[in-house]
Amino acid sequence: MAYSGLRALRTTVEDVLARAGMGDRGSNHATPRDADRAAASSREAAAVHARPVASLKQRSQSPEHASANRAMFERIAPTYDVLNRLMTLGIDRRWRTRAVASLVRDAQTLGREFGPVLDLCAGTMDLSKMLEAALPHDAITACDFSATMLERGKAKVSRTRVVVGDALALPFGDGEFGAVICGFGVRNLADLRKGMREVRRVLRPNGVFVTLELFAPTHARTRALHAAALRQALPWLGTWVARDRDAYAYLAESMHGFVTLHEYQQMLREEGFEALLAEELTLGVASIVRATAAPLAGRTTAEPSQVKTSDSTAVTS
Ligand SMILES: C[S@@+](CC[C@H](N)C(=O)[O-])C[C@H]1O[C@@H](n2cnc3c(N)ncnc32)[C@H](O)[C@@H]1O
Repeated sequence: MAYSGLRALRTTVEDVLARAGMGDRGSNHATPRDADRAAASSREAAAVHARPVASLKQRSQSPEHASANRAMFERIAPTYDVLNRLMTLGIDRRWRTRAVASLVRDAQTLGREFGPVLDLCAGTMDLSKMLEAALPHDAITACDFSATMLERGKAKVSRTRVVVGDALALPFGDGEFGAVICGFGVRNLADLRKGMREVRRVLRPNGVFVTLELFAPTHARTRALHAAALRQALPWLGTWVARDRDAYAYLAESMHGFVTLHEYQQMLREEGFEALLAEELTLGVASIVRATAAPLAGRTTAEPSQVKTSDSTAVTS
């Protein structure tokens, strides 16, 4: 009985992998062995042996967190999309759709062109793709510090400007964007407050910041789900599909080590955001927070100013 259940699950996983071009079944795409080789060579290329720190509070004592985090995403980039679908049973797509809807609704309320939109910590650019469709007249920029994650998503977008850059030192000018959206990214930042300040800096006054995130669970039911499903199943799935238990153990642990939704909203207020609106999704597993940037003292215009210098590379445009 248990064996046939496992066999059915394995078949489902293989189907999803095949559809994602990563399985053996009748495809011209990479085989699992190719994926293994690619993962192994990017592991070597990354050459960073430190592990990212799951607890936000402990990151201040770990200067190597950012490079370890980037190396981890470089490693798991080939299997990132497929594991997202498996881990959430496809619900992550609905969460992303809701987050984009929250942003677009705001554009419609304002009744004007929204202005350039930044997909921050864009990864493989699922949100950028949705933004292209939802905001056909607005410029979209995707930014992430992992070039490999962006590279994996390049085929999904057609007119998105893609920039490799650090969320803690964004390579954009003050007030350059009308809106910023960040999906499952802020949980990884070495310094969350610094990230919030950068978002506020690159936003026009009253620009919109939408966060989609898995915050530390507070409801008993969500805590139970995390304990049973995420902390057990995630590392197991990560081992099986990505051959990388550590990375997926980190992703599960980092939810527990992160702030709660309430704490996040409080921090946003302290960092100059207002008109906060929060929405819990799927029994509070994920949440969307929408906020607007209060004008920064001394900034008199909504026009972009000097572009900050930083190590950034456009990988496509
Ligand atoms: C969990 S993935 C989310 C990707 C994508 N937004 C999505 O919805 O699937 C987190 C992403 O944040 C990126 N990231 C983490 N820290 C970053 C930083 N300091 N600057 C830029 N990107 C960062 C990682 O490289 C990774 O692609």
